[in-house]
Amino acid sequence: MTVTPSPKKAVASLVSYRPALGKSANKDLIRLSANESALGWAPKVEEALRKMPFQLNHYDVPQSAELHNAIAKRYGLEAERILSANGSDELIGLICTAYLEDGDEAIHTQYGFLVFPQATTIAGGVPVVAADEGLTASVDNILAAVTERTKIIFLANPNNPTGTLLSEAEVRRLHAGLPSHVILVLDWAYAEYVAEGMSYGARMVEAFENVVMFRTFSKMHGLAAQRLGWGYFPSKIRDVLASIRPPFSINTIANVMGIAAIEDRAFQDKSFSHNQKWQSEFPKRMAEIGLSVNETHANFFLIDFSGHNVPSAKQAVQFMSDKGILLREMVPYKLDDYLRISIGTDEEMEIVLSAFQELMEKNQ
Ligand SMILES: Cc1ncc(COP(=O)(O)O)c(C=O)c1O
Repeated sequence: MTVTPSPKKAVASLVSYRPALGKSANKDLIRLSANESALGWAPKVEEALRKMPFQLNHYDVPQSAELHNAIAKRYGLEAERILSANGSDELIGLICTAYLEDGDEAIHTQYGFLVFPQATTIAGGVPVVAADEGLTASVDNILAAVTERTKIIFLANPNNPTGTLLSEAEVRRLHAGLPSHVILVLDWAYAEYVAEGMSYGARMVEAFENVVMFRTFSKMHGLAAQRLGWGYFPSKIRDVLASIRPPFSINTIANVMGIAAIEDRAFQDKSFSHNQKWQSEFPKRMAEIGLSVNETHANFFLIDFSGHNVPSAKQAVQFMSDKGILLREMVPYKLDDYLRISIGTDEEMEIVLSAFQELMEKNQ
């Protein structure tokens, strides 16, 4: 019998993270399944693209100082601590590759982002789950899960898919309870949407050797298709990750667009206000229809279908899909009674609300 190549055991057993994006050919699809920017992308991005010199045969610089300076200026940071990457997903993978020996543990929260356990497993590590309290991360449970083999703690704040937020005091209490060799990853993918601000994450990175912060251009900055993320690091960790990141993992167009996006404050302000409006309006309007929606600090909600007089999440996702509205099922997170919905444009949100109204009327 011929023996065929087989991947290492950890990879063979992996449950892969697969986003729900629908049929890309369907232009009329209202896609509210991937927490993307509701308002598209910044006008300055298009302007920058038009002015961009057409140069395809040259590699770009491995790290764009111009991009890092623009990010540092926008958020009041030290540019030397920034490392950009092919989406923050790449940074999640790099930190696992660099800091997990086989069998080392990385803790993530019960309803934390699914890429955390996936990247841990691929690197040869062991993902350890810390139970949430309700739908919110529990600092006590994370600290109780720390063992001698723990090397990394992943905390998405606000968290995807729950939209819940831990306070600064709680995040600092978590850090204070960790051994100094354990890295605390602050995944701030949705920080731009948080009204009270999240700048304390950067201050923690500057103050401690074991705190890193990951950010993305895929959410409020509207560049998900370009794959651009960045991290803020203690210099030693930055150097380690820079040494293993593929040298050209960011393409030229992403660099140019990133600089323009970060400088377009008017677009960011507009996106923030739009999100704020729907953060408060959507739960109220859904309650009038008879559906319960969690409070969110990000650009998406969890809708709860566990109640008595409501359809199941499965029925609801199908009903919406038949109307060309794509929502995200939460079965992979073991939240089977919930659907996640991203905040869309005003028009999309009105269509969604009417569809839910119709669904509830049909259900009576
Ligand atoms: C919590 C969290 N972290 C990271 C990412 C990945 O972002 P990127 O597109 O920069 O890879 C996402 C994307 O959904 C996310 O929800």
